[in-house]
Amino acid sequence: MAKPRRSKMMSLKLPFLLTLFLALSQAQPHSDDPPPPPSSNVCVIGAGIGGSSVAHFLRKYSPSSTPSTKIRVFERNGRVGGRIATVTVAGETFEAGASILHPKNLHTVDYVKILKLKVKEPTASEDSLSLGIWDGNKFVFKTVSPLSSTVPLIDKLLKLPFVNTLVSFVNSALMFVRYGFSLFKMQNFVEIAVDKFVKYYEDPGSRPIFETVDEMLQWAGLYNLTTRTLRDELVDAGLSTSLINELVTVITRINYGQSVSMSGLGGVVSLAGSGGGLWSIEGGNWQMAAGLINQSDVALHLHEEIKSVADLGDYYELNSTKGNSYRCEVAVVATPLDELDIQFIPPISIPERKLQHTFTTFVRGLLNPAYFGLKAVTKIPDLVGTIEDPELPFSCIAVLKKHNEKESTYKLFSRQPMADTLLDSIFR
Ligand SMILES: Cc1cc2nc3c(=O)[nH]c(=O)nc-3n(C[C@H](O)[C@H](O)[C@H](O)COP(=O)(O)OP(=O)(O)OC[C@H]3O[C@@H](n4cnc5c(N)ncnc54)[C@H](O)[C@@H]3O)c2cc1C
Ligand SMILES: *[C@@H]1O[C@H](CO)[C@@H](O)[C@H](O)[C@H]1NC(C)=O
Ligand SMILES: *[C@@H]1O[C@H](CO)[C@@H](O)[C@H](O)[C@H]1NC(C)=O
Ligand SMILES: *[C@@H]1O[C@H](CO)[C@@H](O)[C@H](O)[C@H]1NC(C)=O
Repeated sequence: MAKPRRSKMMSLKLPFLLTLFLALSQAQPHSDDPPPPPSSNVCVIGAGIGGSSVAHFLRKYSPSSTPSTKIRVFERNGRVGGRIATVTVAGETFEAGASILHPKNLHTVDYVKILKLKVKEPTASEDSLSLGIWDGNKFVFKTVSPLSSTVPLIDKLLKLPFVNTLVSFVNSALMFVRYGFSLFKMQNFVEIAVDKFVKYYEDPGSRPIFETVDEMLQWAGLYNLTTRTLRDELVDAGLSTSLINELVTVITRINYGQSVSMSGLGGVVSLAGSGGGLWSIEGGNWQMAAGLINQSDVALHLHEEIKSVADLGDYYELNSTKGNSYRCEVAVVATPLDELDIQFIPPISIPERKLQHTFTTFVRGLLNPAYFGLKAVTKIPDLVGTIEDPELPFSCIAVLKKHNEKESTYKLFSRQPMADTLLDSIFR
């Protein structure tokens, strides 16, 4: 997902969806074993927000008696945070992965408090972003320069929560004129799903333990969304074709590089900017993972990739690329299983799924107005979204920061790597 902070659609975190919790085995090692390798109660593979959250909650809920639970976290990279990461472009730092947090992402709201992190204040320029929907030949829709409506009724319409998240580009009545009451239907569709999702934050003592992801989704009433496309869901919800093919498509392309034929559940997560109040952390969202690990009394093994997990009955044996072997009562795989390079013994079956890879390109320079058939760069919207067309070489281009009239930093998402010649034609 991309783009400028305020305009970015947030995705609710579903780390557990892709996380495999291997069963707990309580028995002790045999007494005639050779000298045991380093042993731990819990080993976590991956120091992204999933793995660091596991460490945090284990520490929070495990008895503080001695000896305390020994937690190890393995991370193949030299830093924690996983897909929450920053990139430095010409000396300035920008979010490259998860850049926006949803106000109903209650765990992260809590982390910021516990870890005493600072919520980033939007700057004036970020509050006044313009949006354009590019079809490859022209902008089919474009907000004019940001202005708050002075007509109270219109102003009220524009405060509908979803629109509020698109704060800057929806501030004109143009959006309402183009999409009409379908905007409300979209908002309603998103709100219903977010309300179901929030059930997962109920007191852990009062909700069931789920054996499967399907069961977990059934419980919250979200399962049916996985069986249909976003388009079908939205048609049933009464949204107009133009809203689905334009604004909604722009959003799914930005967030997931996919069209509205993506899963209804992924789609609603993509649209879940409902309620406004999207936020981020001053200095980088990755600090949540760093702080959780720092506060959870964890042995952190950076640059150590786990290459095999063997279920030896009494414990799990984790071998790493460093040639080390660890014995763990519990092993948590806190990274997506789909493209994993871990050997499981005995083998586990991982249903094959096609993943959409998103390529992110950062450019410091200036867009070329001629590429968009325009005379001046000032006529190009701050966020260029796109409709679904296989000919289009990018999903979106967003201004991250305007340095001066001659230079901005942009973030561009595409389904394929961007060739230099192509970048040379889009930028000047
Ligand atoms: C471009 C982009 C933009 C996004 N924008 C948003 C957003 O705005 N808001 C939002 O909420 N979400 C966003 N997301 C989604 C969000 O980033 C992810 O859902 C979340 O970071 C996943 O966390 P995770 O801990 O499950 O996995 P990861 O962050 O992928 O962590 C897994 C970790 O495991 C490590 N690892 C993997 N295999 C091994 C191994 N064998 N041994 C040791 N270590 C291993 C990896 O190096 C990685 O650090 C975005 C994602 C991307 C890619
Ligand atoms: C999901 O779909 C099934 C079958 O169509 C239906 O019986 C059920 O009520 C639906 N569940 C929800 C929560 O909508
Ligand atoms: C870790 O936490 C301690 C206090 O608990 C703090 O002083 C230190 O700066 C933290 N380190 C990091 C890397 O966050
Ligand atoms: C893991 O390492 C141990 C100790 O070196 C070795 O005995 C075992 O065969 C290794 N397991 C795998 C799956 O490579």
